[in-house]
Amino acid sequence: YERMAEPYRIKMVEKIRLIPKEERERKIAEVGYNQFGLKAEDIFIDLLTDSGTGAMSDYQWAGIMLGDESYAGSRNFYNLQETVEDIIGYKYFVPTHQGRGAENVLFPILIKEGQYVLGNMHFDTTKAHIELKGGRAVNLIIDDAFETQKEHPFKGNFDIDKLVHFIEDKGPEKCAFILITVTCNSAGGQPVSMENIKKVKKVADKYGIRVFFDAARFAENAYFIKKREKGYENKSIKEIAREMFEYGDGLTMSAKKDGIVNIGGMIAIKDDEELFEKVRQSIIPIEGFPTYGGLSGRDMEALSRGLREVVEESYLQARIGQVEYLAKLLDEAGVPVQKPTGGHAVFVDAKKMLPHIPYHQFPAQSLCVELYKEAGVRGVEIGSFLLGRDPDTGEQLESPLELLRLTIPRRVYTNNHMDVVAEALINISKRKDQLKGYEFEYEPKVLRHFIARLKPI
Ligand code: F0G
Repeated sequence: YERMAEPYRIKMVEKIRLIPKEERERKIAEVGYNQFGLKAEDIFIDLLTDSGTGAMSDYQWAGIMLGDESYAGSRNFYNLQETVEDIIGYKYFVPTHQGRGAENVLFPILIKEGQYVLGNMHFDTTKAHIELKGGRAVNLIIDDAFETQKEHPFKGNFDIDKLVHFIEDKGPEKCAFILITVTCNSAGGQPVSMENIKKVKKVADKYGIRVFFDAARFAENAYFIKKREKGYENKSIKEIAREMFEYGDGLTMSAKKDGIVNIGGMIAIKDDEELFEKVRQSIIPIEGFPTYGGLSGRDMEALSRGLREVVEESYLQARIGQVEYLAKLLDEAGVPVQKPTGGHAVFVDAKKMLPHIPYHQFPAQSLCVELYKEAGVRGVEIGSFLLGRDPDTGEQLESPLELLRLTIPRRVYTNNHMDVVAEALINISKRKDQLKGYEFEYEPKVLRHFIARLKPI
């Protein structure tokens, strides 16, 4: 991979500390072996998520001081609108407080009871919002996505045959819309190729179905297209992003990722004025007036600036280079990681590493708990624990992947931190046979993994 030193230097630091091992063991037991329950100050290196955890630049912080906190028509809204038009190319937009706020406003407008939303692979809150609005979330990703050791440049791609068959089988009128998640978080931060996006659009047009993007990590997706897809090597990230979005009718975005802000999101609509009018009406009672939609003026300014920084190629090269750096350390030591590495995280294949723990005892969660005990590092399970139960039968579903996600915040940690994480996992892998599975002590009904309590078996 291409080594790129960070195209920035550190101007301010934040203290972190490693509490003693006995304390870590006690604390994780106290919270029911669910790392979401831990206090952040008890964590040394926090790889729970790349969402809202990035470091803003001095330019973004300067923008915070320029917040115009008018209820309606804030100057920062217009700045953000200009950025959205420039980088995304869509005519209409409203800010939201975060990605799920956007989903909550847009999805009821698009989904009729019983309709399907066809995705490559939906993120968990996205799936939850689809279901809460009476829809059904369907994943139509290529099968290669489930083989972590298989190299494929675009593991986030739709299986076009599966897509066509699904539409023909259920009927286009049963399909609310197609949602392309870039990069595909649940599949390991894997990108979708431009060719695949074009094909999805073609199918969508044929059957009269609309295409939306879940654009949380759009810049990382554009970077992979530039690096891996023929014909894009000399295009700028912005040009690639603009082209991607041309094939969609609109998007929801959690700006806490590629917006490089701590809070924020948006809905953007390409040109459908009627649809936008519905969004504008719905957003008022839910998120707020359309020129702030759940964000303060200063938040909108930081976002506007973050979106311009995230499409700089040198930034993306360092960012994705750091993710690759961690993956390489693990891979060389024989810890099974998803290949190729995705954009925002390294995914450890717990199914491969811990074959003695069955899916219903959550192998990746077991590894997650062990990593915290070992080195005070917090990761997150992306597997059967997260997937949950069949809404019709209540059966625990078996996730095709049992992954421990080590999610790297943007511009926050150094490669020394990555070394610590790798060393800890390598230590664990030497005694992996001793790791045990988990069962529920308390299981909530919706998005259970956030607040469930577990106990070792
Ligand atoms: N879509 C994708 C692809 C996401 O990854 C997320 C959040 C959302 C939507 C929801 O956005 O959190 O701003 O409401 N993903 C975070 C994660 C939480 O850790 O992967 P949100």
